[in-house]
Amino acid sequence: MCEERVRKAAALVRSSRHAIALTGAGISVESGIPAFRGTQGLWNKYDPAEYAYISSFLANPRKVWGMLKELYQIMENALPNPAHHALAELEKMGRLKAVITQNVDGLHEKAGNERVIEFHGRGDILVCLSCSAQYPIEKISLGTIPPLCPRCQGLLKPDVVFFGEPIPRFALEEAFKEAGLCDLVLVVGTSAQVYPAAELPYQAASHRSTIIEINLEETELTHSLKTLFLQGPASQILPRLVEEG
Ligand code: OAD
Repeated sequence: MCEERVRKAAALVRSSRHAIALTGAGISVESGIPAFRGTQGLWNKYDPAEYAYISSFLANPRKVWGMLKELYQIMENALPNPAHHALAELEKMGRLKAVITQNVDGLHEKAGNERVIEFHGRGDILVCLSCSAQYPIEKISLGTIPPLCPRCQGLLKPDVVFFGEPIPRFALEEAFKEAGLCDLVLVVGTSAQVYPAAELPYQAASHRSTIIEINLEETELTHSLKTLFLQGPASQILPRLVEEG
């Protein structure tokens, strides 16, 4: 971690008028939840063509639920790590106005962030594809998969966005509103490869927002947006922004 850059980033956050964060799977890796891409990523173990699309879910819900069940078992025990806590602290300090997350693990809310925009939906709710009833995940047994609606026996699906599905309208509007308002974006733990989420930093940069990127490795954004790139684990870098805050 480059101390000089971290201090520069902290000063930029301190002097910002409306800072927001865009987070991805990398922020939750140290909470034990695997990211999607990379050698340890979920899409390395499960082919996205067979597991990530709404068409794959509908064609073979039992198979896709096999992966989802494994993920729910991991998420059930996951706790926020110092990176999530640091973003919650920055919000309490008045330095961060919103977190836009692509994650569906609920860890930002658990850490105490109040304004969280869940761009790819939420994993703790299941929706019936026949009658639209919604159930908290803990009310539904995953003993037999796929789980079915207790009311109408329709197929239950996590209230998350699969490829081929639209982004929830409210989240989409709020996220782009924030990207239009902000003067600084902390882009944390995302490969920035999935659109429209990856569009948000470009939208912010188009009106001269500062883009600070925290990641183990460079991404498309690093050079195209000339981000202030802080290389290293989010769980080490974000707490430093609080300390310097
Ligand atoms: P990815 O798995 O594509 O990227 C995770 C990023 O986090 C990578 O750039 C890693 O280098 C970085 N990373 C890993 N560990 C880190 C750490 N400890 N600290 C900082 N950075 C770390 O995950 P996302 O960008 O979130 O969408 O993926 C975006 C979307 O693709 C997901 O929301 C999901 C997926 O398909 C849907 O399923 C619709």
